[in-house]
Amino acid sequence: MTIAVKPIAGALGAEISGVNVGDDLDDSTIVEIRQALLDHQVIFFRDQDLDVPRHKAFTRRFGELFVHPNFQFGQDNPEIVYVRREPGDRQVLGQGWHADTTMMATPPMGAILYALEVPAMGGDTLFANQYLAYNALSTGMKYMLDGLRAVHNDTRIAGPGTGLNAERASQVREDEDWRPTETAHPVVRTHPETGRKCLFVNGIYVHHFEGMTVAESQPLLDYLYAHAVRPEFTCRFRWRPGSIAFWDNRCTLHLAVHDNHDAVRHMQRTQIA
Ligand code: SIN
Repeated sequence: MTIAVKPIAGALGAEISGVNVGDDLDDSTIVEIRQALLDHQVIFFRDQDLDVPRHKAFTRRFGELFVHPNFQFGQDNPEIVYVRREPGDRQVLGQGWHADTTMMATPPMGAILYALEVPAMGGDTLFANQYLAYNALSTGMKYMLDGLRAVHNDTRIAGPGTGLNAERASQVREDEDWRPTETAHPVVRTHPETGRKCLFVNGIYVHHFEGMTVAESQPLLDYLYAHAVRPEFTCRFRWRPGSIAFWDNRCTLHLAVHDNHDAVRHMQRTQIA
């Protein structure tokens, strides 16, 4: 083993040491990192030094770079999303529990978030293990959810109706040409690499169960949203400049804590297709 892996909580999350991810890493180290991600669902690195080319190069070792459709402003590196909080922002990107970009037919498998500038306190990120959330459901609930699909779309977080750009520094497409993307996904999915089942709904993207009205769907969705993030399924990451969080978007939810309104927080994110 090249890397050292130290869990940070009972539910998920591990800190990786012994590696500079900006280096040209050999394949066996990448295999170890990928295995740590599968074992712990989200992995963290400290004291890294990534510019945009190194960030993209590290990301490419795990798959194709994903270009987010709602953050396209003609920038030089369309694969980079800048997650920014400026003093006085009334909202932050990712402040509700979610998996990323689940309105897509094939949502990204993961994301690599790198801290450029973070506050002395606050601005942590929470993660929740959706294998545990699924496993903790009763047999009857599992049976009921097994055939269900949920309709995910991005109308709450992009497009001219949201008004989010007036509330926060992280800007999103709000132009009149924007069109929503919608896909139905199974409520219980099977992870393609581990073969384990996990819950796959989130309150940012999901609107209703396929074939059911919003009113019919909402009570069960509300139950699942609360269940999915029970404290015993979560971990909390405290950022420092140069920290990285790399999460498996197929089996986790995450949330950016908006708790230090006057502090600057600048992050740089890639996603893996
Ligand atoms: C995100 O949802 O990707 C952003 C998370 C964070 O800023 O902590």
